[in-house]
Amino acid sequence: MKHDVIEKASGLLGVLIAVTVSIGGIAEIVPLMMSGPVVEAAPGIEPYGPLQLHGRDIYIREGCYNCHSQMVRPFRAETERYGHYSLAGESVYDRPFQFGSKRTGPDLARVGGRYPDEWHRVHLLNPRDLVPESNMPGYPWLANRGIDAEVVKNKLNALRALGDPYSDDDVESTASAIEGKTELDALIAYLQGLGTTVGRTN
Ligand code: HEC
Repeated sequence: MKHDVIEKASGLLGVLIAVTVSIGGIAEIVPLMMSGPVVEAAPGIEPYGPLQLHGRDIYIREGCYNCHSQMVRPFRAETERYGHYSLAGESVYDRPFQFGSKRTGPDLARVGGRYPDEWHRVHLLNPRDLVPESNMPGYPWLANRGIDAEVVKNKLNALRALGDPYSDDDVESTASAIEGKTELDALIAYLQGLGTTVGRTN
């Protein structure tokens, strides 16, 4: 009987649906927020150094995530190709995370160390020099663009304010870490650090 009343009053039905869905949402989300392995850094995971941090922002600026995910799923086909599946504790310092879902190119979660720096340098300038059938765009301008150390320093300070454990020395080391580097160097430093800490198998 009462159900009839609810089904006929669409406003009330909407409110009750919202309440029910929120309870479900809270039941799923809140325990995760409390769970250590999900919100704490996995062993060995450190915040990005200045050069890698800037490289990560270039990765985002250039839209690499439109074609590359950074999330090895726990399936055999994935772990055999890319290595250990991704752990939540590996991305605690990723703001925003780069899990992605579009894989025009391969997953990059564990690409660090798979190729030498020089491979990335040639590949990022013109992928077809190394992989003739590649449809990845070239990013030649990255090699000509320097980096403003002040900007990177501000980023470190901002992340520190959000709780990332950077020390004064880390922030002070920015100028020397950035000195003479191009955006291409920063992007490669970022790529080479990806997924190298946890469960590397190849
Ligand atoms: C239009 C889609 C597209 C975009 C955008 C793109 N890529 Fe790619 N990427 C590919 C494809 C396809 C491949 C596989 C062929 C190749 O190696 O070139 C690839 C391969 C790679 C590889 C080698 C991965 C491996 O395991 O062999 C790296 C590293 C990479 N891309 C980095 C980047 C970065 C960094 C950016 C942004 C600056 C970027 N890609 C943007 C499509 C893309």
